[in-house]
Amino acid sequence: MTDEKTWDFDEWAETYDRWVDSDDPVYARYDDVLDRVAELSGAAPGWKILDIGTGTGKLAERLLVQGAKVIGLDPSQKMLDKAAAKPGCRGMELIHLQEPFFNLPYPDEVFDAVVSTYAFHHVFPAKKAACINEMVRVVKPGGSWVLGDLIFRNGAAEKAALERYDWMEDEYFARIDELSPVFKSLGMDLHSRQFTPVTWVLWAVKPGRD
Ligand SMILES: C[S@@+](CC[C@H](N)C(=O)[O-])C[C@H]1O[C@@H](n2cnc3c(N)ncnc32)[C@H](O)[C@@H]1O
Repeated sequence: MTDEKTWDFDEWAETYDRWVDSDDPVYARYDDVLDRVAELSGAAPGWKILDIGTGTGKLAERLLVQGAKVIGLDPSQKMLDKAAAKPGCRGMELIHLQEPFFNLPYPDEVFDAVVSTYAFHHVFPAKKAACINEMVRVVKPGGSWVLGDLIFRNGAAEKAALERYDWMEDEYFARIDELSPVFKSLGMDLHSRQFTPVTWVLWAVKPGRD
């Protein structure tokens, strides 16, 4: 894989919320995935949560309802405009940022949780480990990292799914067998639960201070 692909999410902003409610198999169990990510984040009053690739704010709305303070980052201004217009996103901070997984403009250990849904598969594979390190850097000790996305157990599972499902685009899917050692190197165990043949929720807790 050489040339890094880019996607135009501004174009998609207008129809995105209808898309996730459609019968597109890519978004099968979308609401279940977001509900589980919100639950695993531990969102509660007083919690500060970073939502990377927040898009139209569908996950953020769930975190806000649970009383958390939410900051949403996204490279698409039009997606952020959609979130800003939603009553359910009132009070969240929306920040336009290129490559928001890669360079987080925050000091170490300031968020109770860092979460993301359906965005990490836009990150170039060679950058994924650095992005994990960057996300974990800003999580407080004892805080959570939670990701819901199109993900595969390993390269063989990805290859089989791409051959089997003609509706799957060839994007930069994370592989659990490649992410696990990255978390191990940070002293964390990566947990996983599969929701559809192509969709998983992954989570890990940052070790607390002794
Ligand atoms: C499929 S939408 C998901 C939005 C929302 N998180 C959800 O679950 O519905 C993908 C979002 O990721 C953003 N995005 C695209 N490339 C990204 C990148 N490299 N880093 C972070 N976000 C990215 C897009 O602008 C878009 O808002």
